[in-house]
Order: sequence, then C-alpha cells, then structure tokens
Amino acid sequence: MRGRIRGLPEPGGRPDRRLNYDLIRGLHILAVIAWMAGLLYLPRLFAYHTRATPGSEMDETFQTMERKLLQIIMNPAMIVAWILGLTLIWIRSRGYGHGVWAPIGAFVTRPWMLTKLSGVLFLTGWHHYLAIARKRFAAHANTRPEKFWRMVNELPFLAAIIMVLAVTTEFGG
Ligand code: HEM
Repeated sequence: MRGRIRGLPEPGGRPDRRLNYDLIRGLHILAVIAWMAGLLYLPRLFAYHTRATPGSEMDETFQTMERKLLQIIMNPAMIVAWILGLTLIWIRSRGYGHGVWAPIGAFVTRPWMLTKLSGVLFLTGWHHYLAIARKRFAAHANTRPEKFWRMVNELPFLAAIIMVLAVTTEFGG
C-alpha cells in the first residue's frame, strides 16, 4: 500500500467533522483575504496619489478612495480576522492542557504559532501605519515619495507567505 500523505483526512469521511471549527476557519480565511487585498492596494493608491496636485480633483478622488478602502473594507476585515483568529486559538488550545490560560499559553508558544502571531502583529502595525499615512495625505502632509510606496507595497505579501506556510505546515509541532 502506498504511504499516505501526512495530514490528509481519512478516506471515506472524517471521524470528527469539526464543523464549527472548520466553518470559523473558512470565515477567518475570507476575512484575511479582504484585509490583505486592502493592505496590498492602499500603498498602490498612495503611490499614484503622490502625483496629484494638492487640492486638485484628482487629489480629492484619491482621498475618497483611500478613506473608503480603509473604513469600509480594511478596518472591518481586520477586526473580523482578529475575532475569528482568537476564537480559533480559544477552541484549539483546549487540547493543550487543563485550566483556562495554561492551554492557551501552551498553544500560542508552538514555534509555528509564534511565527504566525509575529506576522499578525507586523500586519496590524502596518495597517495602523497606513491609516496614519492616509490622514497625512488628507492633510496634504505626505512626505514619502512615490518610490517609497512602490517599494513597501510587497511587504504584507512577504509576511503572508510566511504566515500561511506556518499555519499549513505547523512546523516544529
Ligand atoms: C488577525 C489575527 C489572527 C489570528 C489570531 C490568527 C489565528 C489563527 C489560528 C489559531 C488558526 C487555526 C490554525 C489551525 O487550526 O489550522 C488560523 C488559521 C489560518 N490563518 Fe490565521 N490568524 C490571524 C490572522 C491571519 C492572517 C493575517 C493570515 C494570512 C495572511 C492568516 C492565515 C490563516 C490561514 C491560511 C489559516 C488556515 C490554516 C489551515 O487551515 O491549515 N491568519 N489562524
């Protein structure tokens, strides 16, 4: 018989269906997709925005796009990703011991989870940095050149690669 690939569910259905957990995981991933889309798009808008003359119609249009992207998509998506992510930690840590906090401590200090959470903290910090930059654009006080916004544009994606591979491989146990 050929060796089974590690991590695949048993053929013929899964003994524990874990519907709620898997549902929350799916919704978590959807929230993350929306959050990431905004994190990748906003610096691109900033890059184009640097070319607009302050007070011009183009400047106003970029300001509206940036404000709506942050307020309607990015802020809610980040909050939902956090709430569902913390819920996943809460549910999954149950298998890591007794009591309330000890299992959570044991789960979040797994090497892959520490890596994932470092990425999450970076993305959250980056989100806030972008929100401050948006206010500076609105106040015509941006000092960063177009090149800067183009260069930093890929940072969230690099973080996402590390984070997604950390959760899918669960390296280090
Ligand atoms: C906002 C705070 C976040 C927290 C607290 C959090 C926490 C978690 C936890 C505990 C899991 C369950 C792991 C499992 O049982 O498989 C999970 C799944 C996942 N997370 Fe997050 N996460 C957050 C944000 C993110 C971000 C920003 C990304 C991507 C850039 C991401 C990508 C994923 C993916 C792809 C899964 C599914 C992994 C799998 O099914 O194997 N998460 N997250």
